[in-house]
Amino acid sequence: MTRIQVDAVSIHFGGVKALQDVSLEVRKGEVLALIGPNGAGKTTLFNVISAIYQPTSGRVRLEGQDVAGLAPFQLAHKGLTRTFQNLQIFFRMTALENVMVGRNIRERGNLFGYLFGLPSVRRQNADSRLCALELLKFVGLDRYADRPAGELSYGILKRLEIARALALEPTVLLLDEPVAGCNATETAEIDQVIRKVVSTGVSILLVEHDIHLVMNLADKVHVLDRGVTLATGTPQEVRRNPAVIEAYLGESQDEQEPANAES
Ligand SMILES: Nc1ncnc2c1ncn2[C@@H]1O[C@H](COP(=O)(O)OP(=O)(O)OP(=O)(O)O)[C@@H](O)[C@H]1O
Ligand SMILES: [Mg+2]
Repeated sequence: MTRIQVDAVSIHFGGVKALQDVSLEVRKGEVLALIGPNGAGKTTLFNVISAIYQPTSGRVRLEGQDVAGLAPFQLAHKGLTRTFQNLQIFFRMTALENVMVGRNIRERGNLFGYLFGLPSVRRQNADSRLCALELLKFVGLDRYADRPAGELSYGILKRLEIARALALEPTVLLLDEPVAGCNATETAEIDQVIRKVVSTGVSILLVEHDIHLVMNLADKVHVLDRGVTLATGTPQEVRRNPAVIEAYLGESQDEQEPANAES
């Protein structure tokens, strides 16, 4: 079942062709990794898929429906949610409250009702707390439930963001650099969380510079370079693609697989 269908998407910012004729498809329970050098257009594509940007041409369909013109909460109701390249955490709220914010957006489409404690929203809070606690358990952070987010380490906050995104009960989750800035231990923990999410049938679109994580986690890899699709395929196919090795994987690839030098 196709969840996300990107058809010949181009987007231009003035003279910058940030994406040119990019097409991809993500199916149920699949992990598609989007890789490429800085400025390749990865976040831009996320912004087009989540209807923040309107493409210059082409279109994006979620479960067959065009996403153009939908507000973020409408997309969330249709199953699409995302995390951002830069942390979007409320530092003065507890970890639990940060997840509850996600939950309340889903239930009310109204972040401000939650923030200002409107009565209708208060009634839902008991239920939201339980759900949020379950989600913290799911990502292994229940012991931090009542700690202010501002006291938690960066790696934990990256996991907390995933928990909050899951509060929207997505069928498609877009993760923009989920392990950027994380150490090896934190990366391994987030890797496990992503695997657990996928095992529930959620489809994942992953932007990540950590090639090791990408190659281990992804079913399909889509390589962008200056807005253009350079290669697509399984991790094995992509890592052997000479254009990819030259443009992106570079020396570290040669170090890992010296046998490839002949191809
Ligand atoms: N709103 C915008 N206005 C003008 N140019 C933009 C805008 N958004 C993105 N761009 C340009 O589009 C190109 C792609 O940027 P994008 O942020 O998508 O790259 P990226 O692949 O996510 O890079 P990184 O790995 O550094 O996060 C860049 O040249 C960027 O300057
Ligand atoms: Mg980016």
